[in-house]
Amino acid sequence: MIEAEGAATFRTATDMYGRFVGRYAPSLAVALIRTVGVEPDSRVLDVGCGPGGLATALAEIVGQENVAAVDPSQPFVSVCRARLPTADVRVAAAEELPFEDDSFDAAFAQLVVNFMTDPVRGVEEMRRVVRPSGSVAACTWDYRDGMTMIRAYWDAAHEVAPDEAAEFDEGKTMRYAALDELTGLWQTVDLEEVEGGELSVTAAYEDFEDLWAPLPTGIGPAGAFCASLDPERRQALRAALSRKLGDPEGPFELSARAWYAVGRV
Ligand SMILES: C[S@@+](CC[C@H](N)C(=O)[O-])C[C@H]1O[C@@H](n2cnc3c(N)ncnc32)[C@H](O)[C@@H]1O
Repeated sequence: MIEAEGAATFRTATDMYGRFVGRYAPSLAVALIRTVGVEPDSRVLDVGCGPGGLATALAEIVGQENVAAVDPSQPFVSVCRARLPTADVRVAAAEELPFEDDSFDAAFAQLVVNFMTDPVRGVEEMRRVVRPSGSVAACTWDYRDGMTMIRAYWDAAHEVAPDEAAEFDEGKTMRYAALDELTGLWQTVDLEEVEGGELSVTAAYEDFEDLWAPLPTGIGPAGAFCASLDPERRQALRAALSRKLGDPEGPFELSARAWYAVGRV
């Protein structure tokens, strides 16, 4: 059976997350931080930190001691803590942030809002813990088009298992994967001066196997779908995905587009 709850699919091996979507995290973090602007003496929060790609990029600007990070997944929190031993890294969900009001100058959620159980409550909580005129920012993949790896994956899945792919294609299932929907959420929670736009990044792969290897382990919704297929259809999916990416031999790069929203408290 396919694990329908997207967040639960991230409780698998953290190194597989790094090879799956985590390889995009550092450059996406730099792009998001540059868009929002972070002063060197500010105190910042990374919500849904995963293994800590964004928290690490934030620490390079403000210092680890000025970074807090939360994630409901204990394995991710352990990895993030190991990377940033003097940051405040805790197991917690966006919907119940364990911080006082006005604790931070800015709060970020990178590739997380679409996995929150209650996104309105989660972003309201981000707003609550940020001081007046501080920033609340997030980004989500453009699952429908510009996130090349995930889009090509689901296009291949539609060829191999059309009924199942129609149900689980993240281009259809993911909320806040369109710019107006994401900025609309920022307006719903009464953030001010709301702006949005696109962030474009790339990731490098050693070869096609480097891209494929995490998927059969069940990482993320795409991996959960892959793991649910019988061996024959899984092999057909692998071949179809390779074809969609031009049957790369040796190293290659893929582009990925995310949408961002930022607003002031
Ligand atoms: C795609 S990963 C992104 C991780 C990290 N921000 C990055 O950019 O690599 C999604 C993350 O959201 C976390 N998550 C799921 N539900 C959440 C919630 N309700 N509140 C906070 N984080 C959540 C997952 O555990 C996972 O670490």
